[in-house]
Amino acid sequence: MAEFVMEKSPPLRGETRVQRAKNAVLPMMACAVLTDEELEIAEAPRLTDVEDMATLLRGLGVRVERAGNGLRLCGADLKNGAAEDDAAERMRASVLLLGPLLARLGRARLRFPGGCAIGSRPIDLHIKGLRAMGARFSVREGCVEGAAEGLRGASVYLDFPSVGATENLLLAAALARGTTVIEGAAKEPEVADLVRLLRRMGAKIAGLGQSRLTVEGVPALHGARCTPMPDRIEAGTLLLCAAATGGDVLLRGAQAATLGAVIAKLQESGAQVHSDRAGLRVRGGPLRGVDVETLVYPGFPTDLQAPMMALLCRAEGTSILTEHIFENRFLQVPQLRRMGASIAVRGRTAVIRGVEALHGARVAATDLRAGAALVLAGLTAEGRTVIGDIAHIERGYVDLAGALRSLGAPIERRA
Ligand code: EPZ
Repeated sequence: MAEFVMEKSPPLRGETRVQRAKNAVLPMMACAVLTDEELEIAEAPRLTDVEDMATLLRGLGVRVERAGNGLRLCGADLKNGAAEDDAAERMRASVLLLGPLLARLGRARLRFPGGCAIGSRPIDLHIKGLRAMGARFSVREGCVEGAAEGLRGASVYLDFPSVGATENLLLAAALARGTTVIEGAAKEPEVADLVRLLRRMGAKIAGLGQSRLTVEGVPALHGARCTPMPDRIEAGTLLLCAAATGGDVLLRGAQAATLGAVIAKLQESGAQVHSDRAGLRVRGGPLRGVDVETLVYPGFPTDLQAPMMALLCRAEGTSILTEHIFENRFLQVPQLRRMGASIAVRGRTAVIRGVEALHGARVAATDLRAGAALVLAGLTAEGRTVIGDIAHIERGYVDLAGALRSLGAPIERRA
């Protein structure tokens, strides 16, 4: 099993370009099911989640091929609605095929989605919204089966602004007969990126970036070309790594507008962050502990909670970090404790006391962002850190070790 081997890093210095967003490209790929014309996604990041989504789409009869740095997809030969490949259980985004399959074919059969074990991750809000649009569901042999004789527009209230449920309902509503209103929609930037692509394909959607989205269904959608937004979570991870090592790094392509909460917390902690046309520049220094609450966008993103925790392990003083989005997203804590971190967990709240030093150890990634947290901790720990199960990390970061190495970090990937 591949692993990262690393030593304590000098302050990170230099610049690196941010990848395109995993959580934007995955719903964009699902759009290929909605049309029989060609969809081109430029600069699609080379991630295992993207490869897994491509595998699922090919199983449905969608052509997916790499074209340079991008992807070319075509759903002209969409034949069956069954996405049963194991890939469906390796990631959460497979659930995003439900809406488009019901809209285009009127049927869907999907292995229950997998993804990071950071909570029970139900799909009740997806099902509730699609049912309101006329779909019927049953669960059989670990699969969710849906059927619909033509989806119709409906008014749906999301009890929680679920990113995936919002995206699934947008994908379904684009081809439904009539108008769909999604109240309580997620406002994450990746949802806005999906709306922009659907509009380019001919969808009629109002409310971009707001919590009330209105979709007027159209009979058919045409092909389009798009470039996903920069990955705000990869950018935030690198910002935190640079600040934690007291470095001075420019992240080309990083968008300050999508990282407001993270920038504010870094500045509160004592780092300097400036944005200009090129991207985001961060200068670290001695860091003070800060309190963090993860919230839906534009609040502090849950996907950066673990890397932030790792940074706070070495900040001066005590920090209180509360995870409001997922019920089991402190899997990094036992691993950080093996490196000498002082963290007490009470339910969804972690109390982190800054320590003089962390010490390298053999640790293992338990999920994507917990793995990133261990990399950040390894950058600041005395001695050698070996991180196992890095397949989790490679689901969401194109080449985290390579990016850090280009900024001076002594980190290697060992097969
Ligand atoms: C998306 O997951 C992202 N994944 C996650 O990123 C991210 O953490 C999450 O949004 C929140 O921002 C992708 O976009 C592929 P949710 P998603 O539905 O859609 C509950 C990463 O590290 N919920 O907004 O699954 C759910 O249990 C990944 O890149 C229901 O109860 O997130 C959770 O507690 C991890 N019922 C909360 O809502 C539902 O039907 C947020 O989930 C759906 C969700």
